[in-house]
Amino acid sequence: MMPAITFPSLLFLLLHCAVLSTSTLISYKTYTLPNNTVGPAYISINYADNSALTGISNGRVVKFSFLTKTFTSFSSIPNRNGTFCDSNTDPNNYGTCGRPFGIAYNRSGYVYFCDAYKGLFGVGPSGGPATPLVEFAGGLPVFFCNAVETDQCGTVYFTDTSQNFRDSSLAIRNRDATGRFIRYVPSTGQVTVLATGLYTPTGIALSSDNSYALVSQLGNNILKYYLTGPSTGTVQAFASIFGPANVRRSLLGDYFYVPQTPVPYIHYLIKINSAGVVVGNVSIAGPYSTALYYRDARPFLPPIFLIGSQFPPFLGEATIPGF
Ligand SMILES: *[C@@H]1O[C@H](CO)[C@@H](O)[C@H](O)[C@H]1NC(C)=O
Ligand SMILES: *[C@@H]1O[C@H](CO)[C@@H](O)[C@H](O)[C@H]1NC(C)=O
Ligand SMILES: *[C@@H]1O[C@H](CO)[C@@H](O)[C@H](O)[C@H]1NC(C)=O
Ligand SMILES: *[C@@H]1O[C@H](CO)[C@@H](O)[C@H](O)[C@H]1NC(C)=O
Repeated sequence: MMPAITFPSLLFLLLHCAVLSTSTLISYKTYTLPNNTVGPAYISINYADNSALTGISNGRVVKFSFLTKTFTSFSSIPNRNGTFCDSNTDPNNYGTCGRPFGIAYNRSGYVYFCDAYKGLFGVGPSGGPATPLVEFAGGLPVFFCNAVETDQCGTVYFTDTSQNFRDSSLAIRNRDATGRFIRYVPSTGQVTVLATGLYTPTGIALSSDNSYALVSQLGNNILKYYLTGPSTGTVQAFASIFGPANVRRSLLGDYFYVPQTPVPYIHYLIKINSAGVVVGNVSIAGPYSTALYYRDARPFLPPIFLIGSQFPPFLGEATIPGF
């Protein structure tokens, strides 16, 4: 006998069917990084001049122009030795050459970036050597500055992924829970540790009204941190997605995109709504089938997303209709 379809299971079917899966329609473009360096982790977009910034393993923040399809040098930590560092891919030299990860523009084109070894840096709209801004928070070093985001008022949020490891996979393997979520207010210089005890926090997205932040814990799940309202300062689990590498808000409305590589070379881009429910899931393949993992999928000009691959190193565009 056929079991009766109960209301909850119908609802489940409806929700399940609403999950968009359009892998066959996706088209890709890739742009190879200069100087055989190791590639982009995080990407930040400048719509004013049609370009994107990303950090590479020789310690430079580079600017990619979508008009000329070329990478040019934009910034680095101060006193970096170009002769020594320009072809560097050796992690042992990251401490002296710099390793820029998270990167974010504010509304006037000022750029903040996380150097994985040295903390939070800032640089003006035309680039050049960066200024160190935050090296300590709550009495501890910013040991692994990783993701950074800015809000409408110019406040900066960043993650310190671990106090013990500068390699996220090592941190995960050791069940490290020393990550932190930190706020920096440029106008006063005030640095506030908002959350501690995090599992490898590697991504930040702010809601469109800046009332909450989502923090992806690569070794765990996605957290919601209330920035305003009666729950200010509280944290709750938001979405259980295995190994969420990052989280980015949609250009319109409050949907969020989460890059996921459950096993090497197999990638998905997950779309969740503001309740943390999965509403889309596409396979990211094509040239990414050779990518070990990926860290960022940033909505660019709909339906184009900018996606980086570190191994092999390239910046790419994925056109995902309807996503
Ligand atoms: C590549 O290396 C050359 C010197 O070897 C340097 O002038 C150039 O700025 C580097 N480009 C990038 C984007 O790192
Ligand atoms: C920069 O690196 C080059 C090559 O390793 C080295 O010869 C030079 O002395 C370094 N310069 C400084 C100022 O450290
Ligand atoms: C962007 O940052 C710079 C440097 O801190 C600051 O002068 C400027 O006011 C900021 N812009 C906004 C919109 O917050
Ligand atoms: C996305 O789809 C893949 C393939 O069906 C599945 O293995 C994975 O668990 C899905 N991810 C989420 C978060 O639903």
